[in-house]
Amino acid sequence: MAGNRTFTMIKPDAVAAGHIGAILAQINKAGFRIVAMKLTHLSAQKAGEFYAVHKERPFYGELVEFMSSGPIVAAILEKDNAVADFRTLIGATNPANAEPGTIRALYAKSMGENAVHGSDSDENAAIEGDFHFAGVEMF
Ligand code: CMP
Repeated sequence: MAGNRTFTMIKPDAVAAGHIGAILAQINKAGFRIVAMKLTHLSAQKAGEFYAVHKERPFYGELVEFMSSGPIVAAILEKDNAVADFRTLIGATNPANAEPGTIRALYAKSMGENAVHGSDSDENAAIEGDFHFAGVEMF
């Protein structure tokens, strides 16, 4: 069904700080069902491909270096209105602007090291989910 899935990554900063469990608990409590999930480590090449849309941005090199600096958790999540509701749950990209209680307000360090990724559209949620998971890994 369109509109009911999003894609997330728990980024290297939050994984290294031991926040996987707390973040997944918050995601479950907000009503998201985990459709697919893995602990993985992106190579610089894979991180660069994932964020290729930002290739011309000044922070691209820093973003690729950070996203390949350690393990991440990748997951596909399901809920009505998943993309928008997940972006509300994680808060603004810059944690300084994130609403209190959001995942980024609680766990992000900076604009670059911002604890979690959330897809920005249904179309990108499908592309990003397919980037990380084969159909047989989605339940
Ligand atoms: P994310 O939601 O994963 O999508 C793109 C990422 O680029 C974003 O989170 C930030 O981690 C990163 N990003 C966006 N803007 C900046 C910036 N000005 N400086 C550094 N990193 C940024």
